[in-house]
Amino acid sequence: MASQGTILVTGGCGYIGSFTTLELILAGYDVIIVDNLTNSSEESLNRIELLSGKKPKFYNVDVTDGPALNNVFSNHPEITGVIHFAALKAVGESVEKPLEYYRVNVGGSITLLQAMENHDVKTIVFSSSATVYGDATKHNLIPIPETCPLGPTNPYGNTKLAIELVIRDQCVARKGMTGALLRYFNPAGAHPSGIMGEDPQGVPYNLLPLLAQVATGKREKLQVFGTDYDSHDGTAIRDYIHVIDLAKGHIAALKYLKDHPDTGCREWNLGTGKGSTVFDMIKAFSKSVGRDLPYEIKPRRAGDVLDLTAKPNKANEELGWKAEKTLESACDDLWKWASNNPQGYRQQPPQELLAM
Ligand code: NAD
Ligand code: WQD
Repeated sequence: MASQGTILVTGGCGYIGSFTTLELILAGYDVIIVDNLTNSSEESLNRIELLSGKKPKFYNVDVTDGPALNNVFSNHPEITGVIHFAALKAVGESVEKPLEYYRVNVGGSITLLQAMENHDVKTIVFSSSATVYGDATKHNLIPIPETCPLGPTNPYGNTKLAIELVIRDQCVARKGMTGALLRYFNPAGAHPSGIMGEDPQGVPYNLLPLLAQVATGKREKLQVFGTDYDSHDGTAIRDYIHVIDLAKGHIAALKYLKDHPDTGCREWNLGTGKGSTVFDMIKAFSKSVGRDLPYEIKPRRAGDVLDLTAKPNKANEELGWKAEKTLESACDDLWKWASNNPQGYRQQPPQELLAM
C-alpha cells in the first residue's frame, strides 16, 4: 500500500495514542512517536508491531523540550501532520498542581505548535475532551452538541479549553493551517486480541479500570459515587466509547483535513450518543466477567455532573465516522485484557493469545 503520509503522534505510547497509532498503521500511514513515558511504557510499541507487523519509530522526548522536539522534525522532513495526545490527565491532581498541568499541557502544546511552524507542518489533530463542556445539564443540552457553551470546572479541563483556543488562533494566523479539536467522551475497552489495553503507571481513577481491578481481586469492591442523581437508577450517566472506535475517529479527522484544506480549525464530538449509568456499567462488566461484582454506595464525587452524553451527529455527517462497537464488546475486550495481563505491559502476554 502506498504511504498515506507520515504522522507524528505525541503521547503515542499511552492508551488512546497506542490504539490510534495501530489504526494509522493499518490505514497505511507511517508513524513517528514522541513520548516521555511518564504514564506509559515502550512495550506498547511491541504490541503495535504484533498486531500490525510494523513498529513505529520512537523518540523518548518531552513535548515541553523545544530543542528536542525541533530535532525530531529536522530528522523527519517527511512529517505531514501531527496528532497530539501527550498530556497530564488526572482531574484531581490538576486541582493540586495547576501550574504543572498548565506547563505540560498548555506549554507543551505551544512548544509543539512552534516546532510545527518552524518546520512548515500545517495539520494538527488534538485530544480535547468532553470536560470542556463542564455541566451541560444546566443548559438543558443533553445530548451535548458542539455548540453547547463551554465551561470546564477544573484545571485539567481549563488546560484543554486553553489549548483549543491556542490551536484556533494559530490556524487563523498561519495560512493553510488546519486543526481538528476532537472532544472525546469516555474511552473504554481494549483490543479484542487481549494483548493491548490501558496500562496506567499509577492508581486508576476511571470507572472501568477500577471495575477491572475489582474483578481481578486487586480491589475489594467498587465505590459508587452517588445514587441520588436524576437518572433511571440514581447513578450518573456517561457516554462510553470503545477505544478502537475513538482511534478510528482520528483517521477520519485527518482525511477530512486533507480533503478540506480551507477548513481552518473545527471541533467534533467523538462519542456514541448513548448514555449509560454507573449501575448499567457494573451490570455490563459483570456479565463479561461472569459473576456479580461487589460495590458500596458512597456520596457524590466532588466535581461530577449528572450527564455527559454526546450528540455525535456532526462527526457522523462531516467526518463520515460513527462509533460501531457495542458497550458489551468494550466490556468483553477489557476483561480479556485485564484477566490475561494482570501486570499490564510489565509481563509478556499468554502464549495462547499470541498464537491466535
Ligand atoms: P495516557 O496517559 O495513557 O497517554 C498520554 C501519553 O502522553 C502517555 O504515554 C504519557 O507518557 C505521555 N506524556 C505525558 N506527558 C508528556 C510529556 N510532557 N511529553 C511527552 N509525552 C508525555 O492518556 P490517554 O487516556 O491515552 O489520553 C490521551 C489524551 O487524550 C490526553 O491528552 C488526554 O487528556 C485526552 N483525553 C483522555 C480521556 C480519557 O478518559 N482517557 C478523555 C478525554 C481526553
Ligand atoms: C465515570 C462515572 C463517576 C469511579 C473523567 C474526566 C474526563 C475524561 C474522562 C479526560 C462517574 C463514576 C467513577 C468510581 C464511580 N478524561 N465512578 N466510582 O469522571 O466521567 O471523566 O475521565 O479528559 O475529563 O473527568 O470518568 O471514569 O472517572 O467516572 O462511581 O470509583 O463513574 O462518578 O459518574 P468521568 P470516570
